[in-house]
Amino acid sequence: MSETTAASGSDGVASPTTGSASDRPVLGIDIGGSGIKGAPVDLHTGEFAADRLRIDTPADSTPENVARVVAKIVSEFTDQIGDGPIGVTIPAVVNHGITRSAANIDKSWIDHPAEKTFEDVLGRNIVLVNDADAAGVAEVQYGAAKGNLGVVLLTTLGTGIGSALIHNGMLVPNTEFGHLEIDGHDAESRASAKFKEDKGLSYKKWAEKHLQRYYEVLESLTWPDLIVVGGGVSRKSEKFLPLLKLNAEIVPAKLQNSAGIVGAAWLAHNWKG
Ligand code: BGC
Repeated sequence: MSETTAASGSDGVASPTTGSASDRPVLGIDIGGSGIKGAPVDLHTGEFAADRLRIDTPADSTPENVARVVAKIVSEFTDQIGDGPIGVTIPAVVNHGITRSAANIDKSWIDHPAEKTFEDVLGRNIVLVNDADAAGVAEVQYGAAKGNLGVVLLTTLGTGIGSALIHNGMLVPNTEFGHLEIDGHDAESRASAKFKEDKGLSYKKWAEKHLQRYYEVLESLTWPDLIVVGGGVSRKSEKFLPLLKLNAEIVPAKLQNSAGIVGAAWLAHNWKG
């Protein structure tokens, strides 16, 4: 079933173009600032094999406290997933298993050997990956960019802006394009969905003034064939995507809030399965 053996580790710089699906569901867990969500994923279809479980992120969201919540979620699904590896997303740069930043989670994640902390608490192999990278992988494998072998750029518009850059199915991890400096500002501070909400901007104003500038800079630096826009606000994509004038095709994400879980599960199987 596996058509390539190009898988690297979670330290990896690449995911295989065509991965394999496992016969057992693989657990994906998505850690966010307010909730930690997990579900076993059927990698043949990219769909959940059981209902998703959500537990509030602990107020004191240190790696140890979060790992305990993750352990609770894992214990709910052990019958389905066996002793296989699990995929975990985090809103942080993840470099060789070490978290190098921390967006909306406790600052003690910075420079923490997080993948090892999870493996110690859970006693199984973990693939820890940036949240937007996982979502990008899911969209290429199962969603809006399925089968696209060109340069695919995924951005998630939420509290911040996450990004994933994928070429020929291979992920270049930790691109962090939400933090490009544009016109003297951190890009996500002017173009995120939170900025739109905080300023009470209409979709039109947000799109024409802020998103247009953001995506045209991003496009001039990466020249993608396809831009996929995720994050909760992409459910209303018809209100703002048609207003953007770009070279690349720009489309809403398909997997919505399951993308992180699905991408993490896919990476767990293909990097450590
Ligand atoms: C963080 C990224 C993350 C994104 C979405 C940004 O502020 O720097 O690592 O992917 O938010 O959560």
